[in-house]
Parts: sequence; C-alpha cells; structure tokens
Amino acid sequence: MQLIDGKATSQAVKLEIAEAVQRLTASGMKKPHLAAVLVGNDGGSETYVAAKIKACEEVGFNSSLIRFNADVSEEELLNCVHQLNNDADVDGFIVQLPLPKHISEEKVTEVIDPRKDVDGFHPQNLGRMITGAPAFVSATPQGIMELIKRYQIDTRGKHVVVIGRSNIVGRPMSILLSLKGNPGDATVTVCHSRTANLKELCLQADIIIAALGIPGFLKADMVKEGAVVIDVGTTRVNAPGTKSGWRLKGDVDFDAVAPKCSFITPVPGGVGPMTIVSLLLNTLKAAQKEVYQ
Ligand code: GUN
Repeated sequence: MQLIDGKATSQAVKLEIAEAVQRLTASGMKKPHLAAVLVGNDGGSETYVAAKIKACEEVGFNSSLIRFNADVSEEELLNCVHQLNNDADVDGFIVQLPLPKHISEEKVTEVIDPRKDVDGFHPQNLGRMITGAPAFVSATPQGIMELIKRYQIDTRGKHVVVIGRSNIVGRPMSILLSLKGNPGDATVTVCHSRTANLKELCLQADIIIAALGIPGFLKADMVKEGAVVIDVGTTRVNAPGTKSGWRLKGDVDFDAVAPKCSFITPVPGGVGPMTIVSLLLNTLKAAQKEVYQ
C-alpha cells in the first residue's frame, strides 16, 4: 500500500508555481493577482479564504480580499463582480460559497467573466470541460487529477466508481476520468444515494473516489484487493482533548481499508491540500491567458 501524500505534492506544486512567477516577473510581466470575495463571517468560509490568501503570498501572487456584511444586497454583490470583471489588474477571482439565502448563487456565478472564473463554476467553463476543450476546472477534481498524474496511476481502461454526484466534485470527476487521455479513458460509474447495488459496484472498481460526505462510509468489505481509493470527505467530527475540539474525518474507514489498497489518500493530508494549489494553478493560467486567448 502506498500513501498518496497530498501535502508533499502540494508543496512541490507550489514551488513550481513560485518558479513560474519568478520567470513571469523576470520577463517584465506583473505578478498574477487573485481576488476573493467573502460575504458574512461563516467560520468555515473565513478559514478557507484565509488559507487561499496565505497560499497566494507563499507563491508570490498578489491577492485581495473583498468583504461584505451578510446583509449585503444581491445588487451590490453583482456590482462588485462587474468591477472585478473589468479590473485589468485582477487575473482571476472567486466568490466564496455558500452565500446568504437572499442572494442567488447561480446569478452571481453566471455574471463572473468566464476568463476570470478560476473556481471553474461558470456554465461556460463547465461546458468546455465536458467537451474536453480548454477550461478552468474546479479545484477538487483538478487536484485529484493532479495527484493521479503525479503518482502515475494508470486510469486507461480502468473501472472507476465515483460515490457522490455533486456539481463541484462527483459529476466533474466522472467526466474528467471518462474523457480521452491519461488520466482519463476510464469506464466510470457514478453512484449516489439512490444506487441500489453500491457494494457490488464498489467491489468491481479498480479506482474508488469517495465524495459523498458521510464519515467512514466506505468499508473494507466494499473494496477489492489492490484498488486505488481517493477520499474526498472532510467532515468535522468531535475530538475531545484537541485544541479546536474537532478533527477532519474522511468518507473512508481508513484503518480497515488501507491494507487492501495499492494507493490511498489520507484525511487530512490527501486531497485537501491539493484544492488550494489547483486554484493557484488556475490563477497562473488566467494570468498567462492559457485557457482563453
Ligand atoms: N465553498 C466551498 N468550496 C468552495 C470553492 O472551491 N470555491 C468557492 N468559491 N466557494 C467554496
């Protein structure tokens, strides 16, 4: 069994990005600039956005954080998006989700200029991704693809079972792995809460991607010997005695499943650290006009 070390991989990718920034600035270009819009003060969102800003600093990007109170009007937020669309200094930006109930996430996502949509949530980027055209791909699926690539896990002709069909992980993951290429060229089954024979399907899988958000869901008797298991779960569970009072738990019953696997990602330290790196990669691509000329 080999552990897929997302933390070490993310550090390696960050170094590569920092080197790319050095090359850009040496050639007279400005530093890539990521802006983040944060509405309200939800604890999780605060943590994620702070981590994104810190990562920008680590690789030498410029960053800005635009904050609004939770009672900001939809109109005011849409105005901010328009301003960022038109700000030549900003290469890419994100609006941290979830948004308060009175604001339509769909509307906000759709007014973001697809050329600056480094989250890859805009329908134009989703559409491009589905057809295999150059696109900004959302952070978690892109991070998983990067791990698969760097660990040289062959997906061609393999049976991948994706558990979970969310718009930001399960569904894009299933599409990316079924596209032509390597990683890619896989036969993909998407399972969800209405799947009747989940265990049977998992037992046939060469690669399982668990992205359903139920801690410890994937048990050892659902995994065939030698399978690759990618755990996307990040549920906070009570952990008395720790400083925060909680710890992250994945969707995989790790201790029991790991001995059966050829490769497995831990939680924390697997997929998680790769997501911010994907956002940085997208921002670098936006600055270099790699996706949209
Ligand atoms: N909320 C949880 N994950 C994400 C993400 O990747 N991007 C944004 N904008 N909001 C999120």
